[in-house]
Amino acid sequence: MASPRLKYLSLGVLVFQTTSLVLTMRYSRTLQGDGPRYLASSAVVVAELMKIVACLLLVLKEHNYSLRALNSILRQEILHKPIDTLKLAVPSGIYTLQNNLLYVALSNLDAATYQVTYQLKILTTALFSVSMLGRRLGVYQWLSLLILMAGVALVQWPSETPGAKETEAPATGSQFVGVAAVLVACCSSGFAGVYFEKILKESKQSVWVRNIQLGLFGLVFGLLGMLAYDGERVSESGMFQGYNGITWTVVALQALGGLVIAAVIKYADNILKGFATSLSIILSTLISYFLLQDFDPTRLDC
Ligand code: C5P
Repeated sequence: MASPRLKYLSLGVLVFQTTSLVLTMRYSRTLQGDGPRYLASSAVVVAELMKIVACLLLVLKEHNYSLRALNSILRQEILHKPIDTLKLAVPSGIYTLQNNLLYVALSNLDAATYQVTYQLKILTTALFSVSMLGRRLGVYQWLSLLILMAGVALVQWPSETPGAKETEAPATGSQFVGVAAVLVACCSSGFAGVYFEKILKESKQSVWVRNIQLGLFGLVFGLLGMLAYDGERVSESGMFQGYNGITWTVVALQALGGLVIAAVIKYADNILKGFATSLSIILSTLISYFLLQDFDPTRLDC
């Protein structure tokens, strides 16, 4: 049984990470600097690299900092078990797509609208848990999922209202593209999360080793994505064009996210993960409204 301290620590860090990631990512995508804007596809690759390095250090720590032990674990678990390793290509490919979609979403939606709409992933996670893990949900649980859907629909409502359009529109892009990107990300999040949980629960292997396997595929997919979409720009100005302090913060927060989510699945569970990210919605809405003036809630004219 995991220690309650690690459980609440991982959940607390998840709230901090989710809130700060969405705000800094939105800020970084709307910031108008002098040079070119950084490439989202490159940020995904760098975050994946950072995550792999961090996981390697964690596995090293688990084995009392013995490089020999690390080497033998990596050989045994990754090289000598190609089928098990290949299984992680599925969630990895899906997460890579999802990580790129999040940049599309936050280039087109304000932080708060994005966060609330993205909560539909609780519904997709429930559906995949029922179909893939054989989990059963009670009437109240299904009812709460329906209420969640209604809530998300209401969040989207004001943007359709004539007159509200100008005030609701984010600094850049189109609401439709943003919402479509979030909806696809909800499906991928639900499927990849449950798939990863299934793999973790079906084996005894360290969560950090699983994360290295996931990250290695993520790195390959991310690099392919970067070359396919931004190959020309990368060869012209390099993959670090447009990087600044904020970009590095976004990338580091994204890498931290991968580690924290894995820790939450290990020390707590997916339901508590849902609660933690919901709490971060309240926080990012408040910060988005009061500090960034990026979100304009519907005014009730009585
Ligand atoms: O929104 P969601 O909970 O699906 O976000 C999961 C995020 O965590 C993705 O960015 C994914 O790349 C990352 N992740 C990870 N390692 C895991 C599980 C998720 O890096 N073991």
